[in-house]
Amino acid sequence: VNRGLCIAVDGPGSSGKGTVARAVARELGYQYVDTGAMYRAVALVARLRGVPWDDGPALALVAEKLSFSFSWDEDVLRVVVDGRDVTRAIRADDVGLGASNVSRHSEVRAALLALQRGLAAEGGVVMDGRDIGTVVLPAADLKVFLDASVDERARRRHEELVRDGDVVHFAQVREALEVRDRQDRERPVAPLVAAPDAVVIDTTDLTVRQATQAVLELVRGHRDESG
Ligand code: DC
Repeated sequence: VNRGLCIAVDGPGSSGKGTVARAVARELGYQYVDTGAMYRAVALVARLRGVPWDDGPALALVAEKLSFSFSWDEDVLRVVVDGRDVTRAIRADDVGLGASNVSRHSEVRAALLALQRGLAAEGGVVMDGRDIGTVVLPAADLKVFLDASVDERARRRHEELVRDGDVVHFAQVREALEVRDRQDRERPVAPLVAAPDAVVIDTTDLTVRQATQAVLELVRGHRDESG
């Protein structure tokens, strides 16, 4: 049975990929998979257990043993790891940087790869991350790479943090974003890069709705093409 397409959505932090991937999944009745949340959970759990973010083999043991569960609560993606609700905890900026650090280790990536592929095995999935189109699902039906200027991405992230009641300076948010981007783009394993067959969409001047429509348009195009 064909349950639907596999759609890969990659891009740098705050490019809108999470929001857009979620909206596309909802529109199509597909499952949404947030792979960044997995790396974030590994970083968080490692910290709780005193495992340093630069110890690849020890981190891989953490990643291999984690049991993830994702569920929808209204509009919020609830992430439960080993029975503990980490939905909010994994969104902190330092955990984002931790995720970027732990994700540099090939052992950690290998531990999460099978899980990620398994979630897409039956199709009908929108998966977002950094290496979905290049490594996780190289045969995805549709690959999208969302990008935006660093200023616009920092503006979005800053707005999000302020909304959550955090007191942070724009310059600080921008700097943190650039550090993480550089680390994700320059790492030797599965770096952040658009797959050669990905459609790049610059969301700098697009609303969430416009970006979502652009992706849905590509989905329709794909369907027409394949009959
Ligand atoms: O998308 P995000 O901000 O939640 O991702 C957090 C970090 O996890 C990101 O900086 C790099 C890493 N990551 C990755 O290496 N590969 C993925 N597919 C997703 C995230």
